[in-house]
Amino acid sequence: MRKNIVAGNWKMNTTVPEGVELAKAVLEASAKVPAEVGLVIATPFTHLCPVAAVVAGTRVELSAENCADKEKGAYTGEVSAAMIKSAGCQYTILGHSERRQYYGETDEKLVEKTKLALANGLKVILCVGENLEEREAGKHFAVVEAQTKNVLSQFTAEDMASIVIAYEPVWAIGTGKTATADQAEEIHAYIRGLLKDMFGAKVADDTTILYGGSCKPSNAAELFAKSDIDGGLIGGASLKAEDFIGIALSF
Ligand code: 13P
Repeated sequence: MRKNIVAGNWKMNTTVPEGVELAKAVLEASAKVPAEVGLVIATPFTHLCPVAAVVAGTRVELSAENCADKEKGAYTGEVSAAMIKSAGCQYTILGHSERRQYYGETDEKLVEKTKLALANGLKVILCVGENLEEREAGKHFAVVEAQTKNVLSQFTAEDMASIVIAYEPVWAIGTGKTATADQAEEIHAYIRGLLKDMFGAKVADDTTILYGGSCKPSNAAELFAKSDIDGGLIGGASLKAEDFIGIALSF
């Protein structure tokens, strides 16, 4: 059966010393969270090594927020999957809407990035989600279906054991506007249906699907109570250990 996970996406926040302090605070507070709940923190590249030293050997797993679509070589400014793995990460986030929107992340690039992440022993948190215009035009199912299939059609049922999906409606990110639990569940169930068609019932049942978008301690319990919502990808609220752990206590 699939695992419940709460993952924090720090985005481009905190200096290195602040990030180390935040990781220590998360680790300390994590003692309250039942052992079966997965806890992941995704930090900027600069923070990975020092934060890995804080969380190594603990239940808190470490993630990057992105990785390169090339293996290695003359790609100034890029960070490869092998580098991320060697820094002590277990995961990388890929396809976050902010990367799709501001940095030209395409589904084609995401296929390459996902291949490299898996080949280097990283698990992937693959983000999908529609923007406000698409939601208002009633295209949210079609958008999420295309994003999901464009990438995952290139992978096998075995690969899916290393892939977590995060549904993040763009209109709910950092806006304070959460999707209602029913709106989120509707899409999560739809994604699980797509996985069943693509990979069969076992993979669909075993894949963790996270919700992201203005998730906080006050609304997490209602979201996590839904049968197809297996946890959250948390932005703003992950920058306070108490709020992040408060969300992880909401299952
Ligand atoms: P917020 O929780 O700040 O809305 O961000 C969600 C998100 O983008 C997580 O990846």
